[in-house]
Amino acid sequence: MRVELQHISKSFGRVWANQDLSLTFEGGQIYAILGENGAGKSTLMKILSGFQSADSGQIVVDGQAVSFEAPTDAIEHGIGMLYQDPLDFPPFTVLENFIAGRPGGFFPDRQAARGILLDLAQRFGFDLDPDAYVDSLTIGERQQLEIMRLLSLNVRVLILDEPTTGISAEQKAQLFDVLKSLAHDDGLTVILVSHKLEDVIELCSSAFVLRQGRLVGQQQIPCDISTLVAMMFGKIVARQERPMSDLGDCVLHAERISLETRRLVVEDVSLDVRAGEVIGLAGLDGSGQNELVRVCCGLLRPDRGAVHIGGREMTGQPYHRFVKHGVAFLPAGRLEEGLIGGMTLTEHFALTLPSRAPWVNWIRARRTAGERIERFNVKGRPGSPIQTLSGGNQQRFALSLLPSNLRLLLLEHPTRGLDVESAMYIWEQLLRRREEGTAIIFISAELDEIVAYSDRILVFFGGRVTLVDDRADMTADRLGELIGGRM
Ligand SMILES: Nc1ncnc2c1ncn2[C@@H]1O[C@H](COP(=O)(O)OP(=O)(O)OP(=O)(O)O)[C@@H](O)[C@H]1O
Ligand SMILES: [Mg+2]
Repeated sequence: MRVELQHISKSFGRVWANQDLSLTFEGGQIYAILGENGAGKSTLMKILSGFQSADSGQIVVDGQAVSFEAPTDAIEHGIGMLYQDPLDFPPFTVLENFIAGRPGGFFPDRQAARGILLDLAQRFGFDLDPDAYVDSLTIGERQQLEIMRLLSLNVRVLILDEPTTGISAEQKAQLFDVLKSLAHDDGLTVILVSHKLEDVIELCSSAFVLRQGRLVGQQQIPCDISTLVAMMFGKIVARQERPMSDLGDCVLHAERISLETRRLVVEDVSLDVRAGEVIGLAGLDGSGQNELVRVCCGLLRPDRGAVHIGGREMTGQPYHRFVKHGVAFLPAGRLEEGLIGGMTLTEHFALTLPSRAPWVNWIRARRTAGERIERFNVKGRPGSPIQTLSGGNQQRFALSLLPSNLRLLLLEHPTRGLDVESAMYIWEQLLRRREEGTAIIFISAELDEIVAYSDRILVFFGGRVTLVDDRADMTADRLGELIGGRM
């Protein structure tokens, strides 16, 4: 199967998300779509998968022009996509989600569908219980389900938009094996949108690079990472050195925190953090690190143990009390928890800027929005609704909302979905806060990021801290073994 995108253009108001893009995809190959945040990658893939329509240009499948009104039309022509945020139905079971969208009307053959699901799972080595509820699955498992659903609908072109954010290293290795087998054994076309250039080089045979909605070029792989970076940004980007800083007084004292959630028992986690210190929390998704940061900012109440902020006992106090004492939290679920879909950037500042007045100071909110957009290089305007920003720009905006002069900053996946240059920019900002005496605790799935920026690393496994390391000789590979439970 051969798919051509011809002269695709798409604008949103005054923004050209895609401008005269022409790309060709052949069967049996794995392609990468690269570009900085807001370059137009997701938009182009949404057009190819029928989720959005182009203003002009056409899609040609095996020599025939086609037009898609909806994702089901694209799937009928063999094109299916895994979106940046999963589009499944969490309150339903794995099997029910698998059946959704299948031909068969109101009376689908559940037994047959179960058989197909189990066969596919077995082929790929996925371990999914058809009767489990989707809201109990990890992001990686939800992806596995969606891939199997698309394959059972006979797609020949599989598009994945940033599939490796938020999944474990093991799930990633498994995913890559599946994608290689689909392309090389079954002749499918795989298209991967990613900011992780190491992944792209490992998996893909060719990369298309977009910049500001236009195609910069196509690069054959293998090639150097620096070649791709230079194409994406028009220049070389180098990681800065991590400056040493003096540590101050104890900011956070968490003592023998224990709690039980639906999925996990967290036991006996203790941590002391001093002003100016950066602590990286490593672990597979759901190993207890997310619970710890939530306890340390009042979003979860521990069953046992105590939390002190700046010497004051705060155990079990609500989040806003922690905020009053200089604690802030940036959650991973951008549009689920951190930001409010439907609200503009200005409205976010109207909500978050501290104020004693009983009315909203719109002038201040709009001015602040303008300043932060500028300072954090967010592609958007004060009046843009937050969901119209690209994934990476939403992340930058969420970071721009954090107040200054914090005692303690807790972050889940601070650079998730950011391009290389933006990720470094964000760390520059974080390290500046650290020099001002803010203590930083962050969770990341990027082991390189943890090794590069932490003064101390805590390794979580199964709800316990299995290692505290001052990172003198820690490497990402070693850390990978540790989070998998190997000592
Ligand atoms: N529904 C929309 N309304 C208005 N503008 C939009 C909409 N969708 C996308 N845009 C704009 O189009 C441009 C391209 O966005 P797109 O999501 O395609 O970028 P991207 O390359 O996927 O970026 P990222 O790496 O951050 O995910 C951005 O400037 C974005 O703000
Ligand atoms: Mg995107």
